[in-house]
Amino acid sequence: MKPTNIETLKWTDDQLVLLDQTRLPEQEAYLGIQSLEELIVAIQSLCVRGAPAIGISAAYGMVLAARSITSIQPKTLYMDRLSHLAKQLMAARPTAVNLQWAVEWILSDLECQPQLPIEDIPDHILSKARYLHQDDRDRCDQMARHGQAILPEKARILTHCNTGYLATAGIGTALGVVIHAHTKGQVQQVYADETRPLLQGARLTAWECQKLGIPCTVICDNMAAALMRKGEVDVVLVGADRIAADGAAANKIGTYGLAILAHHHQVPFYVVAPFSTFDSNLAHGDLIPIEMRQPEEVGVIMGTLPVTPHDSSCWNPAFDVTPPELIHGIITERGILRPPYPSSIAQHAAAPMPSKT
Ligand code: MRU
Repeated sequence: MKPTNIETLKWTDDQLVLLDQTRLPEQEAYLGIQSLEELIVAIQSLCVRGAPAIGISAAYGMVLAARSITSIQPKTLYMDRLSHLAKQLMAARPTAVNLQWAVEWILSDLECQPQLPIEDIPDHILSKARYLHQDDRDRCDQMARHGQAILPEKARILTHCNTGYLATAGIGTALGVVIHAHTKGQVQQVYADETRPLLQGARLTAWECQKLGIPCTVICDNMAAALMRKGEVDVVLVGADRIAADGAAANKIGTYGLAILAHHHQVPFYVVAPFSTFDSNLAHGDLIPIEMRQPEEVGVIMGTLPVTPHDSSCWNPAFDVTPPELIHGIITERGILRPPYPSSIAQHAAAPMPSKT
């Protein structure tokens, strides 16, 4: 796919450099991350966000973790310490399974390298993180190609949160489909839900679309029903943070409501996600852990503007779960999965995951 000037994360000058997404769209500022502790804070404060982008950042975070362990011998003790740090990293945010997936992938690769000397471990992990980085780009490109097939000509697409370059290491998941289809002249209009409370749609999706010349109209989350009723939406495309074995998909809070609206208005509702977002260990969606965030994020917009009386009680789950019966299809890098999901997921998951060599 065509490169762009949006650089969400990169490893350079021996550090992880992140585009600080909390400051967009006002400022394009970069953060140099040199320690695991800094990365955990960056993930928790959403400087880096979006399931695949968190996963790839965590893979680089394992380099920082490995480098921080000095003068520990023998190797079994070194590995114990590394797993301890890995657990801290995996606990940074609980819902997006890509975080856990990437860290566990790095650890299991190390288990296959018993002869690797301690001093070579950080560089070895770095080469694996680079591999996962490119692998995520490739998965995004493949999802974008598969997704294009379900869009009508002159598509009017409603999306939620941010699922583009900023949320992955590549072109994106749901927004990646849009970006690719736009290059083929297939996109008439993107509607971006503003995505309260942290405004990923208004701040980030609108910013990306503007940079890429994609027509984008921001709507408040409570306007989607009226828009669908007017017949202005051909399809809803969203990403996912974790997909259970029954096909239920956790995604940014508000996604479930959108799926119900789409069902009522007979608008197709698609989830776009790579297999690194699937969790075959969870039989159904109710088992997906949902991150609860600070109530202040609801009561104060962008950390500065209070919109509720002081000390109001606020509820702030970061994600919700859309049940499989509301999902028309799940667009993955291996093709489009259709219901019944338990069998279509199992069938596509049987293809090999990226090799660790
Ligand atoms: O809290 P965030 O901004 O990390 O939530 C992100 C989302 O919900 C995305 O839709 C999801 O990660 C899929 S994007 C590739």
